Parts: sequence; C-alpha cells; structure tokens
Amino acid sequence: MSLEALKEQAAIKAVSYIQSGMRVGLGTGSTAKYAILELARKLRDGELTNIVAVATSIDSERLARENGITVLDLDPTPLDIAIDGADEISPTLDLIKGLGAALLREKIVEIQAKEFIVIADHTKLVSHLGQKAPVPVEVVQFGIQSTLQRLSKFGEPKLREKNGELLITDNGNFIADLWFNHPNPTALERDLKGTLGVVDTGFFLGMAARAIVAHEDRVEEFSR
Ligand code: A5P
Repeated sequence: MSLEALKEQAAIKAVSYIQSGMRVGLGTGSTAKYAILELARKLRDGELTNIVAVATSIDSERLARENGITVLDLDPTPLDIAIDGADEISPTLDLIKGLGAALLREKIVEIQAKEFIVIADHTKLVSHLGQKAPVPVEVVQFGIQSTLQRLSKFGEPKLREKNGELLITDNGNFIADLWFNHPNPTALERDLKGTLGVVDTGFFLGMAARAIVAHEDRVEEFSR
C-alpha cells in the first residue's frame, strides 16, 4: 500500500472520533489534508452536522473552506478535538512537528483542544525524538544571524528554504531546522524557548492524547 493510502487510513479513523456539534482543530500537511477531506465528506453526506473548525494554516483554511467546512478564527473557547500529522512520534506520544512550517499556529490551536489526535503512517514512529528529523524552530527575521549563533549552542541550525528563497511562515518569521543531539527534549525545549529571537519550537511534548498510526496490515492506536 502507498504511504498516501496509509495516511488516508489514519486520517479516516481519527475523523470517526468527531461528533456532530463539535468544534474541531484542523491540522496542516499531507496527512492532515486527508482528515480535512474526510470531515468535508461526512458533512456533505449528512453523517455529521453543526461542525465548526479552526485551521492551523492559511493552506488548511483554504482547503477546508473550498470543501464547505465552516472555519472560524480561534477564540478562547476550547476545541473538542484537533487532528494533525507529525514528523516524529515517540513511544510516549511526544512529537516533532513543523516540517510543513505551521508549527506555531498548530501549537496555539492544538493546546486548546480537549483531545489532540496525531495521525501518521508508520514511518513517523521513532524510539526518541531527533532520530530522523531536526526540530524546526520558528525565529523572528530581525537579527537572524545573531539568533542562529545563539542556536548553534544546541545543535546545527539551518534556515529553511523554499523554491530557492528563505521560507517565511504564515506569521512572517523564518524557520531554522535544528539538528540536535540532546537526550532530553524537555530541557532542550526550555532552553530553546529561553533563547532570544526564538518564537516557538516544533517540540509538542505532552500534548497528544492519542496517536493513530497506519501500518501496511493494520491501523494502530495508542493513547496516553
Ligand atoms: C506542519 O507544520 C507539520 O507539523 C505537519 O503536521 C507535519 O510536518 C507532518 O506533515 P505530513 O503529514 O505532510 O508528513
């Protein structure tokens, strides 16, 4: 089965947790896209009604609206559920997110969900964070070289590019992908958040309540 089919399977399973009347956080990326499309299908087919959503990126907001989902701005009312992909999932459901550059809005939305479900194909499972992916760090543009120098204390930061130019996030910032070799993501997260010029990081620690991971022969669920 293709990775795309596995992503879709995980997404469909996650959307089965959405009930009519819920407020839903919509993730960003190639896996979250399938959850948005499945939610839209269920609304179209009358299997769900009275859903409002909040999106974690301009792209996801556009996709949701194009497919008939009502998207609101985030207000302080809790969300019932949020569904999003991840770049790495540890055995304790700690995550690295942000290879799609939407980490800041994702964190702001997903922290507000009563239940945050992470969805993925099996390639995203790791034994420890940092095994396969760098942690994306959202940094302000001003004084970028000084911020990169401060970040180099923790690993090797590299500014993300897209189409040959520096990538600019939905919030007008840069992303520094930080390859790190640190045994304790909680301590690293704290140090990164205390670094001048850093807005937030792609560590999502203690946030996911459930993971739905598609393998070739089964869809596996873990909960915290
Ligand atoms: C977006 O910024 C990310 O956090 C994505 O959720 C993450 O990169 C997973 O993306 P894919 O589902 O495309 O692998």
